[in-house]
Amino acid sequence: MKIAVNRNLCCGHARCYATAPTLFHLDDDGYIDTAGFDVQLGDEALARKGARACPERAIRVVDEPGDPPKENLR
Ligand code: F3S
Repeated sequence: MKIAVNRNLCCGHARCYATAPTLFHLDDDGYIDTAGFDVQLGDEALARKGARACPERAIRVVDEPGDPPKENLR
């Protein structure tokens, strides 16, 4: 799976970082500093949680063929 970020929607709430600081990094001004990334195996649930935490819906989960079923993630 991948994470896609629409940086134009980011208002600097930093909830993504608060939820998953190892995956979502902020720039010096407190805005998300990536347009997206590949999620490593084992980080799927945390990535989904971080994406859901954004009140602006700036972070989107992109599922790919072969990804584990969501219900198997914790
Ligand atoms: Fe921005 Fe949303 Fe994170 S507004 S800093 S992407 S919680």
